[in-house]
Amino acid sequence: MAPVVVVTGASSGIGRSLALAWARRGARVVLSARGQEALDRVAAEARAAGGDALAVAGDVTVEEDRKALCERALGAYGRLDVLVNNAGRGYYAPSLEVDPAELEAIYRLNVIAPVRLAQLAIEPLSAAKGTIVMVSSVAGVVASPRMGPYASSKFALEALSMSLRAELASRGVRVLVVRPGPVATPFRQNAVVADDNVGYRPPGHNPQSPDDVAEMTVRAVDAGREVLETSLFVKTASVAARVAPGPMRWITRQMARRSGF
Ligand SMILES: NC(=O)c1ccc[n+]([C@@H]2O[C@H](COP(=O)([O-])OP(=O)(O)OC[C@H]3O[C@@H](n4cnc5c(N)ncnc54)[C@H](OP(=O)(O)O)[C@@H]3O)[C@@H](O)[C@H]2O)c1
Repeated sequence: MAPVVVVTGASSGIGRSLALAWARRGARVVLSARGQEALDRVAAEARAAGGDALAVAGDVTVEEDRKALCERALGAYGRLDVLVNNAGRGYYAPSLEVDPAELEAIYRLNVIAPVRLAQLAIEPLSAAKGTIVMVSSVAGVVASPRMGPYASSKFALEALSMSLRAELASRGVRVLVVRPGPVATPFRQNAVVADDNVGYRPPGHNPQSPDDVAEMTVRAVDAGREVLETSLFVKTASVAARVAPGPMRWITRQMARRSGF
């Protein structure tokens, strides 16, 4: 039976590519984002690609909208195989200049919404022995200068995902954490950026296509994987953070100097 896949942040970037990657495989995709028009365009693309699609406009930081998303998905298709928590936003600022209200807004979107959606969707996901996909980032394992606010949200998502994965194993529900590096999407334009400065970017920081990230993600779900690091850049940073924390601290200090500290 064609799987039912809910994708948040499906109107743009990685979320759009994920919806289309699943649609090409004949899936029934339920698309969430705030902007109705862009969402309707992606729904039409998904149908043209061979899937069935339902667009449910809403804000995943609003509880009624989260409930409506789950209810509409179940009402339309009667099951749920994959929940993709992809909607997210960047916030780049020196830690000493963080705006608490902005930080709370980022945490509501990047941390609380994914966990709350997992709570709301757990019954149908358990019935389907499904998968929760958490779209994290290389910033979920390495925090470079000016990325503290965003990276802290992804570190939190990583910790919650690690607990959740263990807690859900007995129900047969998998948790896949996806860690992209830079991806060619409007993410940077949509981010909150203090002083128009996102910080120094090291060599190898080349954007990947969202379609590549999406294809890898769908294959990782099919293979039952638990973690997906989508590029050599991410794998290198992730290994270095674990096996060489001292040199990584030295590197981040150099990055801080190069980005104005
Ligand atoms: N691009 C990168 O370099 C990169 C790297 C690593 C990780 N990531 C992660 O990948 C995920 C997707 O990012 P992207 O690059 O595809 O960004 P994007 O192109 O800016 O897309 C963000 C999507 O999230 C939706 N969204 C934003 N706020 C929302 C809200 N409150 N409620 C519902 N939907 C909301 C947006 O639609 P509306 O504005 O219409 O709501 C849009 O569909 C994020 O979690 C991001 O942290 C991105």
